[in-house]
Amino acid sequence: MSCPFMSGPRPKNATTNNNNNRDVSGGSGDADKSAAATSDDENPAMHYHKYLHLDKVLKSQVLESEQQGCKVHDEHLFIIIHQVYELWFKQILYEIDSVCTLFSRVQHDERKQLVINQRMGRVISIMKIVVEQIHILETMTPMDFLEFRTFLAPASGFESQQFRILENRLGMKPEWRVKYAQKNYEHAHHGARLAEIKQAEIEPSLLSIVQQWLERTPGLERDCFNFWDKFQAAANDMMSDMLRDVEELEDEHQKEAMMQEYNIAKESFASVFDVEKHNNMVSRGDRRFSHKALQGALFISLYRDESRFSQPFQFLTLLMDLDSLMMKWRLNHVQLVQRMIGSRPGTGGSSGYMYLKATASDRYKVFVDLFNLSTFLLPRKYIPTLTSDMKRRLSIPYGKVNGNVGNLHVHVESLSVSLTETDHEV
Ligand code: HEM
Repeated sequence: MSCPFMSGPRPKNATTNNNNNRDVSGGSGDADKSAAATSDDENPAMHYHKYLHLDKVLKSQVLESEQQGCKVHDEHLFIIIHQVYELWFKQILYEIDSVCTLFSRVQHDERKQLVINQRMGRVISIMKIVVEQIHILETMTPMDFLEFRTFLAPASGFESQQFRILENRLGMKPEWRVKYAQKNYEHAHHGARLAEIKQAEIEPSLLSIVQQWLERTPGLERDCFNFWDKFQAAANDMMSDMLRDVEELEDEHQKEAMMQEYNIAKESFASVFDVEKHNNMVSRGDRRFSHKALQGALFISLYRDESRFSQPFQFLTLLMDLDSLMMKWRLNHVQLVQRMIGSRPGTGGSSGYMYLKATASDRYKVFVDLFNLSTFLLPRKYIPTLTSDMKRRLSIPYGKVNGNVGNLHVHVESLSVSLTETDHEV
C-alpha cells in the first residue's frame, strides 16, 4: 500500500468509500486538504483522517466528570493512557497470534524462525514502551485522581478483556492466578467478552506451542545423539569435581558454605534428572514445561553457537524478555496504585494494592522454566562434544537442506514442510 499521507494517484483497484466518516474539524488551512475533507463524493482520495478513522478515535475521550457537570482536568490523561494501552495490547495480541500461527504448523518450518523472532522482537519493543508509559500517570496527584475516581467506579482494569486474553494467549492457567475476594478473574467479564477470554484459555497457548516445538529439538532422540544421557553424565562429572574441590578446602567455614552450595546443586540436578520429581513440580505449578521440552530448551541453550540453534536460542531469550517486561508492568502498576489509592480497595472489588502485589510473582511468569534453566547450565569444559553426525545436523543452514528451496516441499532431514500456505499467511 502506498503511503496514505502522500498525495498522488490512487491505486487502480481502490474503491470509493462512501461512508461519511470524514473529519471536518481538523482544518489545517491547506486548500487541498480542506477540499478533501468536505465529502467523499467530491474527492475520493484517501485522507489522513479517513485512513486512521480519527473522527472516531479522537472523539472517544468522554470525560465522565464533564458529563456530570464538574470537569476534572486530569481525567483526560487518565482516559487517553488507558486507550493507548488498549491499542498497544491489540497490537501485541496481533503479533502473538501470528507467532502462534507460524509455530502451530505440526511440522514447523525452521526458516520461519527469522520472522517469528522479528515479530517477538517487535512485541518486546512495544512492551518496553508499555512498561514506561505508566509513569506519565504519576504526574497526576492522588488528590486529583480522587476528584473523578467516583465517576468511573465500579469500572476497573480488571475488566480489560485484552489484558486477560493476552495472559491466556501466553499460557497463563486459571489455577496459577491469585483470587480476589474469593472470586476468579473471570467474574469481572460477561457475555461475548467472557466467551472470548474462555476461548483464549482453551486454545493452544504460546507456552504449549513452544513446548511442542522444544520437544521436537533434533538430538533428543535416545537412539541417536541422546543428549539427555550425555548431559546427565557431564553434570555428574561436574558435581564430582565440585565435591572433590570442597573436600580439599582447609578453611572449615568456607568448606561448610561450599558444601551447602554443593548440596543445593545436587538437589536441583536430582529434580531435573528424576522425571517423577519434575512432573510433581509441574503439577504444583513450580515448573511449566514437560520434561522433554525442558531437555530441548537446555540442549539449545548449551549449544546455541551451532548455527541451527542460534535463532531458536534468540527466541527463548525473547520469551524471557517478554515475561520480564510483563512482570515490570505489574510492578510499575502496583507502585502507581499504592501511590494513588494507598490501601483502599479497588473499584473492581479487590483489596487493591495487596492483591496486585501478589500478582507480581513467579506464579505469573509463564516461561519461568527458561529463567531457572541457568541452574542447570554447565561450564563449557563439561559440555559433551557433539558427534560428527550431530555437528552436521546442527550446522545445516535454514532452508538449504537437500538442495532445492524453490520446490513446494523442502526436506529438512526427516522433516517435510509445505510452503504454499504458510508463505501466504505470514
Ligand atoms: C490511577 C491509576 C490506576 C489505578 C489507581 C489502578 C488501580 C487498579 C486496581 C486497584 C486494580 C485491582 C482491581 C480492582 O480491584 O479494581 C487494578 C487492576 C488492573 N489495572 Fe489498574 N489502575 C490504574 C491504572 C491502570 C492503567 C493505566 C492500566 C493500563 C491498562 C491498568 C490496567 C489494569 C489491569 C490490566 C488490571 C488487572 C490486573 C490483574 O488482575 O492482574 N490500570 N488497577
